[in-house]
Amino acid sequence: MADPNSFGIAGLLGWPVAHSRSPVIHNHWLAHYGIPGRYMLFGVPPERLEAAVHGIAVLGFRGCNVTTPHKQAIFPLLDRVDDLARRIGAVNTVVVEKDGTLTGFNNDGNGFVQSLRDADPRWRPDTGPILVLGAGGASRAVVASLAAQGAKEIRLANRTLDKANEIADAVSGVVKVVPWEKREEALDGVALLANATSLGSAGKPPLEISLYRLPKGALVGDLIYVPPETPLLAEARKRGNVTVNGLGLLLNQARPAFNAWFGVMPEITPALKQAIAATF
Ligand code: ATR
Repeated sequence: MADPNSFGIAGLLGWPVAHSRSPVIHNHWLAHYGIPGRYMLFGVPPERLEAAVHGIAVLGFRGCNVTTPHKQAIFPLLDRVDDLARRIGAVNTVVVEKDGTLTGFNNDGNGFVQSLRDADPRWRPDTGPILVLGAGGASRAVVASLAAQGAKEIRLANRTLDKANEIADAVSGVVKVVPWEKREEALDGVALLANATSLGSAGKPPLEISLYRLPKGALVGDLIYVPPETPLLAEARKRGNVTVNGLGLLLNQARPAFNAWFGVMPEITPALKQAIAATF
């Protein structure tokens, strides 16, 4: 890491990046903790990723976040990648070490799990069976983190069965693949239902699932945060389930990154949540 007294720079590498709320989060914390620095967006096309990543250390950045389409492509450009990120197969956070080498992490799944625990402190990954819908990159991060944190049974349903099988192979023995058509039966007895498909996000059709079999005490999480309440979360809330949207993931994945870059584990306060809400 650079001299802690110097102006600290971090940012997001992606293509495109304009939609990101990460600058609001990190710049809010920099101001709140009186740390001189700035978090910025860097639009980096795929063919310039290598040059950009080399530039991070050369220019004295504290580190960066990485988003689509660079989360996998960045692997060979890093000096080391931690175990969880390796299992997930994607990096979302890079830390520039004191010696200028680069370490990759993935805080997305742990951020989601933490946001669920914030919403219902009694819930833990091993409280009961879990149903995860979707098998893209976000699903893989969530499934790997749930397994790493002690989940005993993760039912995984995806329209494309092969992609669910790939996650089951990559993660561990606790993942049971369920055909997409059987997703409602798979709600029996779950302690958590998590939507990691894009269904229900702005401009997409809603997720079709009857919650008739979902236990009333189950948590319902959706990785989507635009809109803040998907039709799935609205229906779950109306029948009495505790619900969590994807903003909790965004905020909780940012905490360990900020800590690694700037040396303070920041808090998620009502003022920060308000600052994010103001961007919608
Ligand atoms: P991310 O990186 O955010 O996870 P993604 O990789 O595009 O995004 O994954 C989107 C997920 O939504 C996938 O699980 C996808 O299912 P497929 O693997 O079958 O493509 C799911 N999804 C998108 N549209 C869907 C639809 N109309 N019906 C069912 N699942 C859908």
